[in-house]
Amino acid sequence: MKESDIYVGLDIGTTSIKAIVAQRIDGQTNVIGVGNEPSAGVSRGIIVDIDKAASAIRKTLDQAEAKSGVKISSVIVGLPADLVSIDRCSGMISLSDSTQEIGNREIMDVAQAAISNNLPQEREVINLLPEEFKIDDFDDISDPRGMVGSRLELTGRLITGPKTIIHNVRKAVANAGVTIDQLVVGAEAEGKTVLSDSEQDFGTILMDLGGGQSTAAVIHDHELKYIDVDHEGGQYITKDISSVLNISLADADSIKREYGIADAQYAVVDNEFSIEVVGQSQPRKINEKLLAEIIEARLDQILGRLKDKLTAVNALGMPGGIVLTGGVASMPKIAELAANTFGMNVRVYVPDKMGLRHSSFALGLALVNYAIEMSDVERVIYDIFATNHTASAANLEPEPEQDPDQYQEDAPVTDEGNDSSFFSRRSQGQQQKKRKKNGFNFSLKNFFE
Ligand SMILES: Nc1ncnc2c1ncn2[C@@H]1O[C@H](COP(=O)(O)OP(=O)(O)OP(=O)(O)O)[C@@H](O)[C@H]1O
Ligand SMILES: [Mg+2]
Repeated sequence: MKESDIYVGLDIGTTSIKAIVAQRIDGQTNVIGVGNEPSAGVSRGIIVDIDKAASAIRKTLDQAEAKSGVKISSVIVGLPADLVSIDRCSGMISLSDSTQEIGNREIMDVAQAAISNNLPQEREVINLLPEEFKIDDFDDISDPRGMVGSRLELTGRLITGPKTIIHNVRKAVANAGVTIDQLVVGAEAEGKTVLSDSEQDFGTILMDLGGGQSTAAVIHDHELKYIDVDHEGGQYITKDISSVLNISLADADSIKREYGIADAQYAVVDNEFSIEVVGQSQPRKINEKLLAEIIEARLDQILGRLKDKLTAVNALGMPGGIVLTGGVASMPKIAELAANTFGMNVRVYVPDKMGLRHSSFALGLALVNYAIEMSDVERVIYDIFATNHTASAANLEPEPEQDPDQYQEDAPVTDEGNDSSFFSRRSQGQQQKKRKKNGFNFSLKNFFE
């Protein structure tokens, strides 16, 4: 099997890590193996323990290798969108010989010029997405190669992230024994796979309801325009079920998946199921309605907060409505609940590929598609970063600057895990403050204001 035909998307989630192995044959993408293992060392989408994360990634890759029969050497990795900044940038170079055709070298040079013009301190450049080239006075050129002129200009979007966080991702993946083909902004990739062309054009809210966090991304004019992350997700629902019903987290997660309904008005009191209760010899009967009320209470809070943020930037009422992804989007009646909350059309995206028919695989698949669909020029520019990283990957050291108590309260939590600090976590406001302090930056935030 030719290595270059294989693409592996790696979604390092808070509750589970997914690896999707796809093969490209005759212009067709076939998924040939999937790995899906519980996560570790990840809190709210951020790697907080490199060793634990590396071994969870390795387990996932082992599973994906066993299923696909492919030895995985490199992966495309998704980054949470709230960690990155996407800023407009531009650069210009003079072409010394105006009769010589522009080639890859000149594209790399003009990209380097745009990067050095716009590089913010303490941030690492993840990618530069070209939007338009200009040769002398001719603009709107998407690929200038083969053309001639005396001046080449590039405008595009520069994607940067906090050095420490990006370092931890690189280090955990390197320790899992593979290299990174590409780091991709998760919501940016998801938009391209999950939304139709017109949804991306006219404007749609893409909502990833994950285990550790819930992300609303506004895609408009085919670009990611706004992002808001709420730091609660499915594991909070599990925890609520566990404490209200006095059952273990593992049982709570399993009844949530088996009997859970997101919108309590669709649940029926007479539908009952039995659960084992800690400290009681007899199983207890629980009705579907009570379970749904617990679930809905938490979802109302999460969706309500996202709605406030989206209202504040005037993003509600996007013609494309809302498209839900992430594990929690698999819960029955979630679309109805969200439609009621936001007053918009809502649909759930489930990948239409064998072995991936669950909303939580949306990002992994999107990462694969993103890499496959990159244009030639994007690839030439990305090579600048790929070369730099290959050179430095071999001697990545543990990040010494990390404030030792920075993530003190962020012990990784899985739905099934037993984390007694769950309810002592920081309030939303405190979390936001902490993120700001660490240099997080929402440069897209005010787009709709
Ligand atoms: N059928 C289902 N019904 C309800 N909840 C579900 C279902 N399937 C999965 N979940 C929940 O979805 C969550 C996991 O979703 P997902 O895999 O998208 O999160 P993640 O990527 O690990 O985390 P994050 O994106 O927040 O970092 C868990 O809380 C899990 O219990
Ligand atoms: Mg996720």
